[in-house]
Amino acid sequence: MAKITEDHVLQALSQVNDPDLGRDLVSLDFVTQLHLDDQAIALTVKLTSAVSPHAVALEQSIRAALAPIAGTRTVAVQFAADPPAGGEKTPNIKYILGVGAGKGGVGKSTVAVNLAVTLAQLGAKVGLLDADIYGPSVPIMLGLRDYKPAVNAKRKIEPAQAHGIKAISMGFMVDAQTAVAWRGPMVGRAVTQLVEDVDWGELDFLIVDLPPGTGDIILSLCQAIPLSGAVVVSTPQDVAFADVLRAVKMFSMLKVDVVGLVENMAYFRAPDTQKDYEIFGNSAATIQCPQYGIELLGRLPLDMAVSPNADAGRPIVAAEKSSNQADLYRTIAARVASRLAVLVDQKTSLAEVGKDFFGQRPAQ
Ligand SMILES: Nc1ncnc2c1ncn2[C@@H]1O[C@H](COP(=O)(O)OP(=O)(O)OP(=O)(O)O)[C@@H](O)[C@H]1O
Ligand SMILES: [Mg+2]
Repeated sequence: MAKITEDHVLQALSQVNDPDLGRDLVSLDFVTQLHLDDQAIALTVKLTSAVSPHAVALEQSIRAALAPIAGTRTVAVQFAADPPAGGEKTPNIKYILGVGAGKGGVGKSTVAVNLAVTLAQLGAKVGLLDADIYGPSVPIMLGLRDYKPAVNAKRKIEPAQAHGIKAISMGFMVDAQTAVAWRGPMVGRAVTQLVEDVDWGELDFLIVDLPPGTGDIILSLCQAIPLSGAVVVSTPQDVAFADVLRAVKMFSMLKVDVVGLVENMAYFRAPDTQKDYEIFGNSAATIQCPQYGIELLGRLPLDMAVSPNADAGRPIVAAEKSSNQADLYRTIAARVASRLAVLVDQKTSLAEVGKDFFGQRPAQ
């Protein structure tokens, strides 16, 4: 059998690109372990996210690239999720994702809860922070109405656990009547505490259900929480797209990348025939997103099973795991994970370029 060295293997792997980042595995330094002998080539490759929709395809590309040099050796590929480290204050949390909207009632909380549970079902470690001081609905949606958070032995606030995720809500800490009278800075401080003083442990994703609108409270919140990105939720009635654009503008002012848009209650799927009815006419999001360079992460139908299940503490993706809603949420979750990996990589690369150029990291 032809003698090969580690260099041959790395040369072959330099033909394989990470599907999210579009650069090759070797220059990304993503091959973390390599073992080579006459019987086997065994390698460990980094994934940008704990939920990688591309792992299967990536393994196929790696095998195809190694086939010409492997001979009769077996090829063993292992993946290790190793997203970038979290921020200074939250080193154990890889990505913090806000879910917001220009206005209320569009399904932010529904999307935040179901996205969080879906990411957990796909294998990620997930926390959910309900930062909506006006109408915290996570306690109801997760069946945690009576949860009373306590301080644990580590002197941290113990989050609730439900449907595979950890969760904390402003609603656990203060009653809505009191909190509504708070000004922005107070809300900012309270939420900072929920991010930093809750015993989240290691998290791949912390999903934050933001209050509606673009006013003082949400500005303070976004300044208090080091968001890696934000998902905007909309409904199709807003043909002018005005609320979406207001939310996108607010996030860009705050230097928070918009990961994409979820159009909720976008059409009606009849439960008896499974036929789809575009009851609001053409989809505003489908037409307008490309014009504004916004990624359309998915369109979720109005579904009669969503609300009663949510009121009973069962997110639809947990109540009906093989439903159409659950499928759509899996697609959205995979897109979110990919987009976050790309956005954070771009930011890091820019900071690295800046470091070389200025001799130090530019101010964030
Ligand atoms: N796709 C859907 N199909 C059917 N009902 C839905 C869907 N999405 C959300 N709902 C229902 O619509 C109502 C509003 O949703 P939700 O509370 O998630 O909105 P919100 O944007 O968080 O509202 P708020 O601004 O009050 O926080 C809830 O009763 C929820 O169960
Ligand atoms: Mg809500």
